[in-house]
Amino acid sequence: MNEKQLRLATRFVATRDVKEYRATIPFHVQADNVVLEIGCEWGTTTVLIAPRCKLVVGTDVSPDCIARARQRHPEIRFEVLDGFDVLAALRLGESFTKVYIDMSGLSGYRSLLDAIALLQAYATVLRPQTIVIKSAALKHFASHCQPWWPGQGSPAGQS
Ligand SMILES: C[S@@+](CC[C@H](N)C(=O)[O-])C[C@H]1O[C@@H](n2cnc3c(N)ncnc32)[C@H](O)[C@@H]1O
Repeated sequence: MNEKQLRLATRFVATRDVKEYRATIPFHVQADNVVLEIGCEWGTTTVLIAPRCKLVVGTDVSPDCIARARQRHPEIRFEVLDGFDVLAALRLGESFTKVYIDMSGLSGYRSLLDAIALLQAYATVLRPQTIVIKSAALKHFASHCQPWWPGQGSPAGQS
């Protein structure tokens, strides 16, 4: 791990499904936030984020989805973006404070490493406060993780 990765301040929030993904909005989006949504499809979640923040940019790899999102919500900025191209996200030219990720194919256990790598890349490059991701596998995995800190509790067999 390099120095920059060790100093990451970004919090990762893993949600199981789209209901949970959207339920985080009142808890994680504030009025002064600039929000990036990756995998916005037709903008259904983007439009829920919009009234709660300063600016939201909805993005998707599919030009057809973006065309439809723009048609449905002309007041919101939508851009074509491949979520795996983190530098292209940087070139959107905004200082994003929150990132929402809901990319198809990223929720299962087979793509767990991709999801973690993506979170790490966005945290390192964009340095947002929080990234909310829809990944049932990551939520399940994270709920079984516990960081080890020396000095906490007593060794097994001693109380
Ligand atoms: C489940 S839909 C998103 C639904 C949307 N977030 C909502 O709440 O209504 C997943 C979207 O991920 C997009 N997607 C898949 N691969 C992607 C990638 N590499 N970069 C960006 N978007 C991607 C798909 O085009 C699709 O629109």
